[in-house]
Amino acid sequence: MSALFQPFTLKDVTLRNRIAVPPMCQYSAVDGLVNDWHLANYSAQARGGAGLVIVEATAVAPEGRITPACAGIWNDDLAQAFAPIVRSIKAQGAVPGIQIAHAGRKASANRPWEGDDHIGNDDPRGWQTIAPSAVPFGAHLSKQPREMGLDDIARVRDDFVTAAQRALAVGFEWLELHFAHGYLAQSFFSEHANQRTDTYGGSYENRSRFIRETFAAVREVWPAHLPLTIRFGVIEFDGRDEQTLSESIDLTKRLKADGLDMISVSIGFNTPEAQIPWAPGFMGPIAERVRREADIPVSSAWGFGEPNIAENAVNSGQLDVVMVGKAHLANPHWAYHAARELKLDQASWTLPAPYAHWLARY
Ligand SMILES: Cc1cc2nc3c(=O)[nH]c(=O)nc-3n(C[C@H](O)[C@H](O)[C@H](O)COP(=O)(O)O)c2cc1C
Repeated sequence: MSALFQPFTLKDVTLRNRIAVPPMCQYSAVDGLVNDWHLANYSAQARGGAGLVIVEATAVAPEGRITPACAGIWNDDLAQAFAPIVRSIKAQGAVPGIQIAHAGRKASANRPWEGDDHIGNDDPRGWQTIAPSAVPFGAHLSKQPREMGLDDIARVRDDFVTAAQRALAVGFEWLELHFAHGYLAQSFFSEHANQRTDTYGGSYENRSRFIRETFAAVREVWPAHLPLTIRFGVIEFDGRDEQTLSESIDLTKRLKADGLDMISVSIGFNTPEAQIPWAPGFMGPIAERVRREADIPVSSAWGFGEPNIAENAVNSGQLDVVMVGKAHLANPHWAYHAARELKLDQASWTLPAPYAHWLARY
């Protein structure tokens, strides 16, 4: 009996197993518009057996794209381009999710394979970034952002709301707000990025305000019967980890009281100085602590792409759902691979028969 291949129900949505494809930017959109590359990519991952496929960080506003080639959902035409992707993910038996995002001070960058650094200030492909404070991330992302005024803060919060409405209208059934990885929302929470002295900076209460307000505003428009989740960097690995973790767990509890259904436990990435202890499944114990202390379902990523590691993460109670990222780029049929590696009998595969029937014997 496999834990990984048990179905998972959250609100009115049931995943056929505990395997999810986390959001992974394809850097292949044109002016925010997704295309056949995205359709093929997400269809393959859904057909490949994952229970949940979360479409990449999709910008709620043009200046919230990480690169000029990032996907967007800031108008109805952009949203409509997701319709075939949503339809296809569902047709392959997976649940279609989307991560909506604003990249803040990390926006206006070159694609990873074109340098991953900020686009130069004189280059017309780039744009002025915005952030809680006029403090650059540093290292390869040295561009100085403009400090957001209260009007900017209200506007971006509203952008998240309209993006959520568009995602719902086009058929997504699982919404993830990108509150991680040093992007805008996470950077409000971070003392590395946020040096404001108004009600959005300073104390934990103030640094968490943008996240709480944005979450609450989205909750009002996202239906109660569908999962509303966040990806949140609960730890920085910057030497202040106990403080960050306990604040993050407290915030998770408060968001749960406001209607948060699940959290994808991730890393802050707010400072290039972080010393991250990369290892297979290393976020598992941290996710387990969030799960236990905040009493909420959790997922996590980062090195769970070996079937035994993924199986153990669910079986041991660390994770409810396992995010398997790059291993799905290498093999979109990762779930079939895992079922075989774990030597499951075919009855417990919970994967589509047109492949499962053959691959269980092959
Ligand atoms: C190509 C690529 C794009 C990514 N894009 C996103 C993204 O859009 N949003 C996000 O939260 N994380 C993103 N990530 C991080 C992944 O979701 C995941 O956390 C990471 O790949 C670690 O999991 P893995 O070890 O299974 O690959 C991306 C990672 C990769 C490799």
